[in-house]
Amino acid sequence: MIPLDSKKRVFSGLRPTGRMHLGNYLGAIRNWVAMQETRDCVYGVVDYHAITTPFDPDELRTDVREMVIDLLAVGVDPEKSALIIQSQLPEHTELAWILGAVTPISWLERVPTYKEKAEMHPDYLHLGLLSYPVLMAADILLYRANEVPVGEDQLPHIELTREIVRRFNHMFGDTFEEPKAFLHRDSARIMSLSDPEKKMSKSLGPDSYIALADEPDVIRKKIRKAVTDIGPANEKMSPGVGNLFRLLQLVGGEDDHASLWSDYESGSLRYVDLKDATAEAIIAFLAPIRANRQRFAADEQVLRNAVEKGRELAASMAEDTMAAVRTRLGVGQ
Ligand code: TYM
Repeated sequence: MIPLDSKKRVFSGLRPTGRMHLGNYLGAIRNWVAMQETRDCVYGVVDYHAITTPFDPDELRTDVREMVIDLLAVGVDPEKSALIIQSQLPEHTELAWILGAVTPISWLERVPTYKEKAEMHPDYLHLGLLSYPVLMAADILLYRANEVPVGEDQLPHIELTREIVRRFNHMFGDTFEEPKAFLHRDSARIMSLSDPEKKMSKSLGPDSYIALADEPDVIRKKIRKAVTDIGPANEKMSPGVGNLFRLLQLVGGEDDHASLWSDYESGSLRYVDLKDATAEAIIAFLAPIRANRQRFAADEQVLRNAVEKGRELAASMAEDTMAAVRTRLGVGQ
């Protein structure tokens, strides 16, 4: 094994496609913030992952910057964690190439996100999309992370990383430890507003999610539009109503939650009241983050320093890993 210091190591990444949304934050990123207090963490804006689906280079540039702002605004602290932009550390792609040489294609073809994306963009099928989980494994293993805070949708990727580790260790000798996913107890899967049986996601369009950067009026409009009842009156709570109740609770609207819930039980709930309470609770929940966003967005130097510091710290870990891996393989000597 590559020797590790005693503290636990953490890696996780966020794709810079659009802005960070509540699903990202409640499902994963708030764990990033909590874990930096007790572990050595590297957090990445993973721009090489963002180029595996159709993108515009100018928008990508903006999205990377906005994601850095989002991450700082929610409390990722460059004094405590290494905040990196993936493409600034070439070791990610170097290790991905090597892991690609030990990963059977059949493992990649059965990954659910590959199948989903291939269906969504049939004209954009390429090797990068297929090998996306290999790059993800490289991100994690480059920093020898033992824990990976993610939402539930990423579990198949973490499982695949573990399989890649076993195969690599078997072929070249014990080198990597198997990382574990770290899920949030009650918010590992936040559902879409427009299609409450699917997860909240940017790819379902802006009415599906609340971005942390959304203005209060935009939040009110999106929640007003959220799907509540589908079809005729059902005896069971509809997924949309359940979703709003859950969001209300997760963003700290417990009092409203209790009284609206008793309205629901007595059959007197007006959806508009549930929606208004949820919108206002989200707006209040996001207010400090919005204020932080504005502050960071106005300070280019702070943004630059944060990622430069992160890059330096991460580079030394990445170099150590790559030196050991190259030796194992008999390359780069
Ligand atoms: P991405 O950018 O889609 O999402 C970032 C994080 O947010 C979580 N998430 C959710 N959690 C709960 N409910 C939701 N509706 C929801 N939507 C998103 C995701 O699970 C994720 O944790 N492949 C990754 C990025 C990545 C990565 C890595 C992650 C690249 N390399 C290495 C971990 C380790 C992705 O596309 O996340």
